Amino acid sequence: MKRIVLGVSGGIAAYKACEVVRGLTESGHDVRVVPTEAALNFVGAATFEALSGHPVHTGVFTAVSEVQHVRIGQEADLVLVVPATADLLAKAAHGLADDLLTGTLLTARCPVAFFPAMHTEMWEHPATRDNVATLRARGAVVAEPASGRLTGVDSGKGRLADPREIVDLARLLLARADALPQDLAGRRVVVSAGGTRERLDPVRHLGNRSSGKQGYALARVAAQRGADVTLVSAHTDALPEPAGARIVSVSSAAELGDAVDEAAREADVVVMAAAVADFRPTGSANHKIKKSDDSPDPVIELARNRDILADLVRQRRPGQIIVGFAAETGDEHGSVLDHARSKLKRKGCDLLVVNAVGDGKAFDTEDNTGWLLAADGAEEQIPLGAKSQLAATVWDAAARLLGDATA
Ligand code: CTP
Repeated sequence: MKRIVLGVSGGIAAYKACEVVRGLTESGHDVRVVPTEAALNFVGAATFEALSGHPVHTGVFTAVSEVQHVRIGQEADLVLVVPATADLLAKAAHGLADDLLTGTLLTARCPVAFFPAMHTEMWEHPATRDNVATLRARGAVVAEPASGRLTGVDSGKGRLADPREIVDLARLLLARADALPQDLAGRRVVVSAGGTRERLDPVRHLGNRSSGKQGYALARVAAQRGADVTLVSAHTDALPEPAGARIVSVSSAAELGDAVDEAAREADVVVMAAAVADFRPTGSANHKIKKSDDSPDPVIELARNRDILADLVRQRRPGQIIVGFAAETGDEHGSVLDHARSKLKRKGCDLLVVNAVGDGKAFDTEDNTGWLLAADGAEEQIPLGAKSQLAATVWDAAARLLGDATA
């Protein structure tokens, strides 16, 4: 159990902070909500008190003998601000401390992450850009906001990241305080995710069990490390869209291949996390295939799909990093790692993430484990952890390779 301080500043997205409190307490953490006075115009203190199980104050003149404006920050393992308004970011960047939340931000020595929500014009204003840059330079995480519907009729960049995404990133920061540096700023990356579907008829397809969670975690972490991210998404579970990523939705392996090729032309890194069908039915019916007692049961004939990863490696630009995934089980010919080492050679990619699959491992699970193999022979075991932790390990290695290529 970790002590998390959840600061809430006064924007309409304050109501979404309730879901974040829920998600964090359900993960077993002790959450203390510290709203600003303005935030209480949107959500009442009683709601935060009931959800967190702690009293809620906004000022420094309550329980003065406990010196709360110092103690709360000092004792925290993680401070989040959800939502962070332009005003709150400005106060934090300038070290103002005129209420309990801003006082807490000055006394906290643990990781601090701001999740902004504001109108696009405010987010893009040079004053806000400077404040964000100042906070990041001091080591705080200022997350990229999402794009979409804002208050009123407006839409654009500035929407609060999905609460599930915020909980996921909070878990990542608790596990690894240094997981979200801005080391991919200015880099273009492409991530494929999910499982492809090969059409049989208007109501049937051949698919696979990929949930898309690992690919989405890769896109989420890359966007929060400053990358320009294109997420080519095949079929997935209902997942929150990674804030800051551009999503291209596809269905079949052929569509996924075309979309990845197109995006890869300008990319510094391409990660093939999608579960791509190796085969497709040679024909697909325009009508529903019917069973009949008079004719024989249909036989599905399959044709080979192209290997997108191998083609990416063949066509790669100088300095471009290509990352593959391998889902392996051991067999009589070798262990999971033996198969993975030969797959890395065969595919020719720079990095290969290896997951052991079967018996409930990797598919449909929240956590993941495996190995990261590099073309230069380096091998790193990835301990069991959240999929965003595995994602952070992959981006660490990719950022190192990008650094080597440009050195
Ligand atoms: N992949 C791809 N195109 C395909 C099949 C797979 O680009 N037609 C990519 C996947 O996205 C993954 C990697 O190749 O990054 C490895 O996928 P996997 O299914 O484990 O490997 P295969 O090449 O299909 O090898 P095999 O099924 O023989 O183990």
